[in-house]
Amino acid sequence: MSQRPRPRKVTTSSTAASSAGAAPVVAPPPKVTVPWVAAAPARGERLVMVTAYDCPQARQADLAGVDLVLVGDSLAMVVLGHPDTLSVTLDEMLHHVKAARRGTARALLVADMPYGSFHLGPEQAVTSALRFVKEGGAQAVKIEGRRPEVVAALVAAQIPVMAHLGLTPQSVHALGGYRVQGRGEEAAAALLAAAQEVAAAGAFALVLECVPAALASEVTAALAIPTIGIGAGPGCGGQVLVFHDLLGLEERIAPRFVRRYAELGAASRQALAAFAADVRGGRFPAAEESYGDPSRPAAEATVGALYG
Ligand code: KIV
Repeated sequence: MSQRPRPRKVTTSSTAASSAGAAPVVAPPPKVTVPWVAAAPARGERLVMVTAYDCPQARQADLAGVDLVLVGDSLAMVVLGHPDTLSVTLDEMLHHVKAARRGTARALLVADMPYGSFHLGPEQAVTSALRFVKEGGAQAVKIEGRRPEVVAALVAAQIPVMAHLGLTPQSVHALGGYRVQGRGEEAAAALLAAAQEVAAAGAFALVLECVPAALASEVTAALAIPTIGIGAGPGCGGQVLVFHDLLGLEERIAPRFVRRYAELGAASRQALAAFAADVRGGRFPAAEESYGDPSRPAAEATVGALYG
């Protein structure tokens, strides 16, 4: 039996735009499922994915209507302060997957398999991924690299797999840095072949990171499953950004592909500085932010003096 939710036509003002020639507007499903994501290209719909690392972030993403929440191993860099993604452990990832699970109601929750949790082969990969599903409540896992045998083993264990090709940050040392991948005929052909391999092995979606836009479009056209791009141009079947990049919380590095939709880093600093100034100036807390005790009117009267 198909689990795919039936897309609902919406009757909002955007329906008027569709009758004026724009793409038909189809409401997202009540709850996103793997089959619904996998069939996005057939429906002609673009997917929206964002990373999140804790409950409030996942809740904001979910309430905003994103389709997929990825607890990325970018956790290592944007949350834990490491210089790369290599050192984050399975247990650390699991801790954050559990938190994100509590904030995710509608979106599909995907857990990123950290470096070293699947590199020993299919058996280790299944053992690791089962923890994300059983303990963390993840509905799918993501793995970096051309590893069709690992994809197949996970799929055989009923664990949906999102593959990730192009710039795979776990291979930073092997790649010699964070560089655009798939440039030149040979590299482009290898990337296309890798994409076809992981799709044939059963991946339900493919992240393409930092590859030329034309190559990403070619890969997208060659696959039945959706591609989700980051630094891979507009021709992908969807897009993903890191939560902290999108909201301006990570301000130290700004890869070319990042578009900031807010400046929450600056806004946070302003708010914290205002708090500090209010505390130092005796303006916080005010009377209405404090508790009284009507049973001790004399003591209450002395409090009034405190507020000038
Ligand atoms: O870890 C991560 O955030 C990712 C996305 C960039 C796809 O892998």
